[in-house]
Amino acid sequence: MAPIAVSTDRIKNAVVDAHEKQKKKGGGENASYIPMLAKVSSKLFGVCVATVGGQIFSAGDAEYEFALESISKVFTLALVIEQSGPHEVLHKVGASPTGHAFNSVSALEQHNDKPMSPLVNAGAIATASLVDAIDAEDRWRQILQMQSAFAGRQISISEEINASEQTTNFHNRAIAWLLRDGGYIYCDPMEACDIYTRQCSTLVTTVDLAVMGATLASGGRNPLTGERVMAHANVPHVLAAMTMEGIYTRSGDWAYTVGLPAKSGVGGGLVAVMPGQMAIAAFSPPLDEVGNSVRAQAAVAQVAHTLGLGLFGVPRSGE
Ligand code: DON
Repeated sequence: MAPIAVSTDRIKNAVVDAHEKQKKKGGGENASYIPMLAKVSSKLFGVCVATVGGQIFSAGDAEYEFALESISKVFTLALVIEQSGPHEVLHKVGASPTGHAFNSVSALEQHNDKPMSPLVNAGAIATASLVDAIDAEDRWRQILQMQSAFAGRQISISEEINASEQTTNFHNRAIAWLLRDGGYIYCDPMEACDIYTRQCSTLVTTVDLAVMGATLASGGRNPLTGERVMAHANVPHVLAAMTMEGIYTRSGDWAYTVGLPAKSGVGGGLVAVMPGQMAIAAFSPPLDEVGNSVRAQAAVAQVAHTLGLGLFGVPRSGE
């Protein structure tokens, strides 16, 4: 991998400055529909950059473990693309933005129960059902292994968060049955919902999240362990899905203002990927009304702007 274009001092300062400035930012509320998430301190705030060369720059509560939640959708998508190829996902799940909330039922109804994106709840439940597995525990083992390979360490489930979700996930169970009705679920619907709920309940730090993103940024090779986690050719499909739906109904605004593929979760995490260079991650529990962390969005955007990152920037030499 060619050396990154941005100096380490600039990255270090950008991370510290973003943490310093955005920790004062108020607004938002913890997710309350998952009881355990409502209890996490709203003050927690971590920022981290991981480069494709394996350097880590962090500030604040970057070692605090929080629930991965919807960010897990990215890694199950990666697993299924690896197993069945990108076209299978396109055909059986879809890859377009829904324009609706992440757990929308009306989005399903508008498209004959096709989920449209692997990064909304319906699409993620369908994607979990596509994992090539012999039973539920095999499905779960493979998903957890993929999350761990991306992070470069063994990731574990929080039994407390999982219990909190499994006993309140009635909306997602209804979505799984609608997928069954439309023919867009590929194993037992309640197994798929159970496994999806477990994959959301794993614990990561902001540093883990940055490394997971940097594994995508480096074309599928984990920059810490050196392990090839996914094929280079499959990474663009994951990044495209993140660009289309990673920030939910704010994905278009995010592409317009920041220009990096990204994914958020209701645990307060967010990760953005600059291919070939680095990933920027941030975590803070208070969410905006569509489910994205208020401080994490601001911090990641600030780091990206400070470092001049963005997919849509045209090099001056190209004029
Ligand atoms: O299924 C759910 O509703 C949660 N386990 C995850 C949702 C989520 O993280 C949406 N992200 N912003």
